[in-house]
Amino acid sequence: MEGLKEAGSHVPPIDFSTTNPLPGVELGGESYEQLATGGVLLPGQSAVYQRLWQPGVVRFEEALAALEGSESAVAFASGMAALAACLLATVTAGRPHIVGLRPLYGGTDHVLENGLVGTTVTWTDLDGIAGAIRPDTGLVVIESPANPTLELIDIAAVVAAADGVPVLVDNTFATPVLQRPLEHGATMVLHSATKYLGGHGDVMGGVVATNDEWASRLRHVRALTGGVLHPLAAYLLHRGLRTLPIRVRAQQRTAEQLARRMVGNPAVSRVLYPTLDGCDPQGLVGRQMSGGGCMIALDMAGGYQAAVRFIEALELVTNAVSLGGVDSLVQHPASLTHRPVAAEAKPGGGIVRLSIGLEHVDDLADDILGALTAVHALETVGATA
Ligand SMILES: Cc1ncc(COP(=O)(O)O)c(C=O)c1O
Repeated sequence: MEGLKEAGSHVPPIDFSTTNPLPGVELGGESYEQLATGGVLLPGQSAVYQRLWQPGVVRFEEALAALEGSESAVAFASGMAALAACLLATVTAGRPHIVGLRPLYGGTDHVLENGLVGTTVTWTDLDGIAGAIRPDTGLVVIESPANPTLELIDIAAVVAAADGVPVLVDNTFATPVLQRPLEHGATMVLHSATKYLGGHGDVMGGVVATNDEWASRLRHVRALTGGVLHPLAAYLLHRGLRTLPIRVRAQQRTAEQLARRMVGNPAVSRVLYPTLDGCDPQGLVGRQMSGGGCMIALDMAGGYQAAVRFIEALELVTNAVSLGGVDSLVQHPASLTHRPVAAEAKPGGGIVRLSIGLEHVDDLADDILGALTAVHALETVGATA
């Protein structure tokens, strides 16, 4: 990719062309074949068509690959489009069986559970991976920190147990700022770029960082199924990467302070945050992830009713799906993101998930601790009435 200096620009230009002039009939055809089968643009060839190759998308992919330490990255219209492409690529390779470790994002759980793209799944835990692997197993799918309970999964241990089967890690919650799964042996790192990479709640995207071989398979799937990232989305995601480290570190600092201030609150039976006592029994903070991240989960002492009251009492923090933006969000996973998850794997009704943004820590503390006080006051009145 031509550098910005050579292009005479300070920020990356946005090219909206859906089609590109061909250098001739022969070379045009060769370019098409190269790109439609998962190849990269070769010198002298044409990008042909936006679904096959887009310079702004490539810029974002190269930047993300550098952050994750991967050979390549392939971007998609959303995190789910990225996941679907990984699954389709493994189905096409004749390995449709997936081993999944719960908890995962509800959409990931849903697509694996219902086999929509031709996969079958065996759910297991770390100890069950070796026994769950079959000759047709194409992927082991994990997420760390896990959504929504923020358990950390030992990526290197999963890779060892997978014994050569590629491991896909959803790194959406950690971002490459806090965790780089390829350094622990993972083959694919998936992001809902909609979250921290974009960082402002105004752009959807997905991306997979991986080796050149898998990247070619994923580009092939993308070219034929069309889940492409729009050039404007690519621009915004690329711009988001510029501030990713400072956003993530600032949001993490606030999340950690808030989590500690909530420990012992009578409205909460457990605060789930990786650096709190008991939340990281394997000692993965420091070894795999450099901090606790920007998400907090609360298990409300009063269960579902308390979770509803807490969410509805918040004013600064918005009750909305998604995460990873500069403004704080709260949601109730069992009734929203994890609604399709089977009953035995669904998060408890008392679990609430907070995505901590860039607001002042004291403003967030006033809102969150105030709402917890209001919930507890109602519970106390209820108990004595
Ligand atoms: C951890 C995680 N992975 C994947 C996804 C799916 O990404 P998208 O919504 O961009 O399709 C989400 C969305 O919430 C998520 O939270």
